[in-house]
Amino acid sequence: MNQTEERKREHVQISLKENVSGHHNYWDDVHLIHNALPEINEKDINLSSHLFGKKLRAPLIISGMTGGYSEGKKINGRLASVASQFQIGMGVGSQRAALENQKLIETYSIIKNYDVPLKIANIGASQMVLWDKKQILENADKMVKMIDADVLAVCLNFLQEAIQPEGEAQAKGCLETIDMLSREFGRPIIVKESGAGISGKIAHQLKKTKVCGIDVGGAGGTSFSAVEYYRAKIKGDAHNMRAGQTFWDWGIPTPTCILEVGKATNWDLPIIATGGIRHGLDIAKSLVLGASAAGMAHALLKPALKDKKSLELELDVIMRELQIAMFLVGVDTVEKLSTVEVKYGHTD
Ligand SMILES: Cc1cc2nc3c(=O)[nH]c(=O)nc-3n(C[C@H](O)[C@H](O)[C@H](O)COP(=O)(O)O)c2cc1C
Repeated sequence: MNQTEERKREHVQISLKENVSGHHNYWDDVHLIHNALPEINEKDINLSSHLFGKKLRAPLIISGMTGGYSEGKKINGRLASVASQFQIGMGVGSQRAALENQKLIETYSIIKNYDVPLKIANIGASQMVLWDKKQILENADKMVKMIDADVLAVCLNFLQEAIQPEGEAQAKGCLETIDMLSREFGRPIIVKESGAGISGKIAHQLKKTKVCGIDVGGAGGTSFSAVEYYRAKIKGDAHNMRAGQTFWDWGIPTPTCILEVGKATNWDLPIIATGGIRHGLDIAKSLVLGASAAGMAHALLKPALKDKKSLELELDVIMRELQIAMFLVGVDTVEKLSTVEVKYGHTD
């Protein structure tokens, strides 16, 4: 196993064994106002929605997490199997490993075996800036074909790159690269943060490109700084443990990102709300704030590693919770959630 594969394995293992969440989950600050007279019947609630021209049975994406090492194939296979069963979207983790080593392609391409309605390819922006224009367009094509993707996500993960000892904290030229790719690739591109969030100011810059959506990937859920803290701890590396601890809660809360990004883009671009989504009620909250869909990573990782049955049960209950939340605020379609009354702010 080379260094990249080993790191990917460690990320998954640490995320499962340790508490790598931010110290505060900002979805707890979002309060939907109860409707005592919902005037709908729960059985008539319709969870279906559309994203990037694809029909989903519920507004949910399994966020890109893995691939690029042997166990990644098993995890991506299980996730794809339930994404197909529940007809929800799914992303894979960064496909860089498979570009470097063809033997790893199957750890991602396994998702092609399933009827996943929306498949999202993934590459880190910090890797893309190292390539020339020809390589960027060729590699983007390879990654999309590898999983038969509908959309390619360019991942912004500079918190992780800065904290991890082998990280590549090279951000110069990223916006220009995203702009070029969004205009010349000919397939939909989205930009995705991975836990530190996207502000209104950055969304305003992205709006000038041709990206077709923003996954805000905000703070409050999985913290890559926390993951790196534990990686450093295992290695007895006090220096990096300290940095991991200092930046543990770095980032913009996911609910704030949705409001800022929506305002900065005139709500023209679909927003995916990833970061700290734990259950169906959090999904409902994110849609009330204006997201088009929610993304879940960590909450699905544990059941995915256990077995397929656990994953099915988890998704079943998530759908049920979303339906209950919609009933209690009195809306029978996902679109109507954006009209629901909400209070946002820390209360204790
Ligand atoms: C083990 C693990 C690996 C991840 N790898 C990637 C990745 O390769 N590319 C990416 O864009 N995001 C990656 N993410 C970030 C997730 O897609 C998501 O943005 C983040 O975990 C926040 O969601 P959560 O709070 O539901 O976990 C990873 C997350 C986890 C837990």
